Amino acid sequence: MAHINTNIRIKEKDLSSKFILYLTTISFVVTYIRTYPELIIQRNCKNTHQLKDHNAELLERILSNRREDEKMFTFLRPLSKGGSKATKLLIASNNAKFSTFGALQKGYANSDPHYNNIITESHGKVGLITLNRPKALNALSNDLFHEVNDALVKYDDDSNIGAIVITGNERAFAAGADIKEMSDQTFAQVYKYNFLGHWGKINDIKKPTIAAVNGFALGGGCELAMCCDIIYAGEKALFGQPEIKLGIIPGAGGTQRLVRAIGKSKAMEIVLSGRNFSAQEAERWGLVSKILPSDKVLDEAIKLGQDIANLSQPAIQAAKESINAAFELSLKEGCHFERRLFHSLFSLNDQKEGMSAFVQKREPKWTND
Ligand code: CAA
Repeated sequence: MAHINTNIRIKEKDLSSKFILYLTTISFVVTYIRTYPELIIQRNCKNTHQLKDHNAELLERILSNRREDEKMFTFLRPLSKGGSKATKLLIASNNAKFSTFGALQKGYANSDPHYNNIITESHGKVGLITLNRPKALNALSNDLFHEVNDALVKYDDDSNIGAIVITGNERAFAAGADIKEMSDQTFAQVYKYNFLGHWGKINDIKKPTIAAVNGFALGGGCELAMCCDIIYAGEKALFGQPEIKLGIIPGAGGTQRLVRAIGKSKAMEIVLSGRNFSAQEAERWGLVSKILPSDKVLDEAIKLGQDIANLSQPAIQAAKESINAAFELSLKEGCHFERRLFHSLFSLNDQKEGMSAFVQKREPKWTND
């Protein structure tokens, strides 16, 4: 009997120590989650292009951004070693308001935790800006556009970046300016504060910008894409300027850029009827430079950005400036401007290097000066 009692006591002891261990583990995990609400691990991300190739790089950047946080560092380290690249991701964001929905779906790591409406990350020499208001089809709110501007300027100033890609998600690049945000605005308000004035910042960016468009690119979304230097579109992308159906007209350059891209008759038809047009039409009309399978658009845009970024940056900047001048100048003035820029490039080491490399039958080594 005493023997049985002892056994029961031992089992009870066993159970209670297991229970204590269980509680300790739970409280340890809860403490970590509460201390680091920004740390999220996502599995089953096999379709995330970023994740496949850049997981290690992302982790490294997260770690380097947060090196001051020793606990975080030691917690991240073992995770970075374990598991397959395609099935594990750490997404970090300091900000509780960080919209993780799209990020989690896509497996991005936000390089700037202060953004709530976009996600930024660099892929080699390409800066990627992902519009991230998926529930509102990436409607371009005031806050979102300020963040886009901020990211654009940062990438433009970053000497490690040579091209910038802007993208959305599979359903929408962007469904236009945020209608809910602007519906109650009065004339006095929009006029006094020059509503949409800050949307023009992208036109001051010196580095090449590429729009990788899937899904809806409507109204302001179409205008944002048209502000980019190059547009790659997924085969199901849908463009349009439907503002007329809201009792307004495009207000971020739609009437001006569309007519320059596709001509008067088509631009009139699109803007006056508000009908959407397909990626195939956009490509045929010269608005879009390439149509790709939906899941390849972003990769190809980044690849193009990488190819551009690997060339001489001052020459790239001059080429972009010269092409853009064509929209502002007469043919004679434009050709004169181009010739002057062409001449000025002979002051660069890259011009000497590019031509010597050709003569010597070797690859040039650009120094960007
Ligand atoms: N602004 C604010 N919210 C928007 C939005 C926009 N431009 N476009 C879509 N949304 C929101 C919807 O309100 C909806 O939110 P709730 O679930 O909270 O209701 C959510 O996104 C999903 O949209 P839908 O349910 O409408 O999705 P759908 O698949 O049925 O239709 C759509 C998709 C055809 C794109 C439709 O959403 C639509 O027509 N959107 C408006 C497009 C538009 O008119 N754009 C021009 C805006 S004005 C402008 O851009 C001015 C300018 O020149 C800068």
